[in-house]
Parts: sequence; structure tokens; C-alpha cells
Amino acid sequence: MLVDNLKTLQGTSLCFYLKIANFHWNIEGPDFPQYHEFLGDYYSDVYNTVDPLAEYVRALNSYAPGSLSRMLELTIIEDYNGPQIAWDQMFTIVYNDTTTLINLYKDVFDVATSAREQGIANFCADQMDALEKRLWMIRSILKKV
Ligand SMILES: [Fe+2]
Repeated sequence: MLVDNLKTLQGTSLCFYLKIANFHWNIEGPDFPQYHEFLGDYYSDVYNTVDPLAEYVRALNSYAPGSLSRMLELTIIEDYNGPQIAWDQMFTIVYNDTTTLINLYKDVFDVATSAREQGIANFCADQMDALEKRLWMIRSILKKV
């Protein structure tokens, strides 16, 4: 059901936001200012999707999840509670998670389109577009010369 997909997106996005924020705070490396700023922009973009997703859930006449434990049940992106890792490992994790999130948006786009919920489908399409750009940027950061 579309509303369940939206809850999964909401929980996944909130958990992903925190994971990117963690890396934004703790990343180290020769280009620290750029890494820090890139991840700062990225977490803020992801965070800004959580509220519209929750409000779509309400518009579909269900209740939005609102607790951290519920977000952890919903997320399909794994929480990171591991040791300090190198900057390129952090970006590799963020890259793979971004791919996971794009695929989730594609699924929800399909469900929204068949339910004729064009506003939600448009929102998904915009996010897919923005996330594809993030993939390109992270690929460029990780490219070895
Ligand atoms: Fe910051």
C-alpha cells in the first residue's frame, strides 16, 4: 500500500539523515572542508524530505511514525554505530545507501503512479533526480587519479 511505502521512506530518510550527519561531524582527511560541507548539504536535503513524507502519510489518512524506535524498524538503510573509518569508506557507504534510497523512491513512484497520486509521484521523481546528482558527485569524489 502506498501509505506503508511512504512510512518506509520516512523512516529510511530520517535514519539516513542521521548517518550522513554522523559522517559530516566525524569525517577526517586531506580535503576535510569540502567533505564536511558536502555532507552538511546532503544531510540537510535528506532531512528536508522527512516532513513532507510524514505529511503525505497524514494526507492519506494514516498516522505518521514519530519515534526513533519506529524509524529503526522502518528503515531499509542500516544504522552506522561502528568505529571511526576513513573518509573514502564513509563516502562508499553513503554512495551505496544513496543507491538504496533511489531504488526505494523508484518503487514508491510506481505505486503512487498506479494509485494516480500524481503529487506524490512528482515528489518522488524530484528526489530521484536530486539523488542521482549526489551519486555523480560522490563517484567523482571517490575517483582515483
Ligand atoms: Fe554542521
